[in-house]
Amino acid sequence: MRKMIKRLAGGIYDWLDNRVEVSVLVDFAHKQLTKLAPGHLNWLFSFGTVTLVFFACQFVSGLLLMIYYEASADSAYESVKFIMEQVRFGWLIRQVHAYSAHFMIAFLCLHAIRVFFHGGYKKPREMTWLFGFALLVVAISFAFTGYLLPWDQLSFWGTTIGTEIAGTTPVIGKYLLIVLRGGETISDVTLTRFYAAHVVVLPWVFAMLVGMHLFLIYYKGLSTLDRTDVPEKTPEELKKTGGKPFYPEHVLKAAIVVLLVLAFMVLMIIYSPIPLSDRADPFNTPGGIKPAWYFLPMYQALKYMPKMIGIIGLGLVILAIWLLPFLDRTPERQISRRPLAMSLGILFIVANLILALLGKIGETEHTIWGTRYHIDTYGYPHVIASPAEALIIEDLDLADETEDGE
Ligand code: HEM
Repeated sequence: MRKMIKRLAGGIYDWLDNRVEVSVLVDFAHKQLTKLAPGHLNWLFSFGTVTLVFFACQFVSGLLLMIYYEASADSAYESVKFIMEQVRFGWLIRQVHAYSAHFMIAFLCLHAIRVFFHGGYKKPREMTWLFGFALLVVAISFAFTGYLLPWDQLSFWGTTIGTEIAGTTPVIGKYLLIVLRGGETISDVTLTRFYAAHVVVLPWVFAMLVGMHLFLIYYKGLSTLDRTDVPEKTPEELKKTGGKPFYPEHVLKAAIVVLLVLAFMVLMIIYSPIPLSDRADPFNTPGGIKPAWYFLPMYQALKYMPKMIGIIGLGLVILAIWLLPFLDRTPERQISRRPLAMSLGILFIVANLILALLGKIGETEHTIWGTRYHIDTYGYPHVIASPAEALIIEDLDLADETEDGE
């Protein structure tokens, strides 16, 4: 690695090394990166790296957006519109920022699922999981605070719903709501608070947590699929069982996945850009406002039970996931030998997908096999028109759309 950097940086490396001994750092990084990783490492192990790359995208595009963004209720919306319509490549920077937030959370979840099914949270990597889960909470807080910043109808009313849910937390709910909003309602004060958290507090917390998470991964190494009650494999044993150095073998795989996912994001930006809706209007509640997809399962689940029980239940589920390494002390890592963990894991994923789907289709109308249905807020369909009537409604909808288009 020293040779490669010397070749790339030429005399600069020697110049720096003579003054501040950068070779000590380079040798340390080389030693850590070329540590042997277990032989079962596959493409799924790239998800952590993909998450890190999306965070880098967020950071760079966020810094660029800050040049023109104005965090005040009077001008936030206009400044975002200006970025999208007037600033050269402003639309691209905003889309990269908005899309990489969605991709980052999606890959964070996939990464956590990967770790769960490989038993990577078990002894002696409990702390890696604790810091990782804290990262998930901070990432969601990033998304939540960032959502309000464009100050359009969607962000205003989405944040109203989100803070309302936080306000139903037992005992502290009332105070939490006031602290989040900076008053009874969403206002200029809320925007300033969210902006400060989004660009100052959360980035520092996130950077420190990522630093700890990565340090623990390289310090402890990635886990094998062996039971936790047998000693961890030495580098020699890893080599004999097909272990490969993290760099370059695994880094190359991760780079391919990163490039493919980035290419997919570019396609999404081109063919399905995230729109800016109308300017926020506190006196006009638009219909069908829903929280972002990663809050949908929680939002939907809360509809089926009394708010208080729902919030306590959700809190307990979140706490149980965070403390998973201490709750699941079984020594097996192979998922085929952990039937209970496998069933609970699959049940959790399927339940979340179903709740998200119900949340998405709730409060909408659809024509299925010719019959028009209204899907209520709980996801139950109600027939509102026979096939013949549905045809007329569809014609009317089509005529409305054509008129709007004109
Ligand atoms: C920004 C957030 C995160 C980043 C950048 C990140 C990054 C990484 C990377 C690069 C690895 C090594 C390769 C891999 O397994 O993919 C890893 C491993 C690990 N991560 Fe994360 N991670 C994040 C969030 C999380 C979350 C949310 C959890 C769990 C709730 C978690 C738990 C773990 C554990 C336990 C390992 C070690 C797994 C093993 O030894 O098999 N991480 N992380």
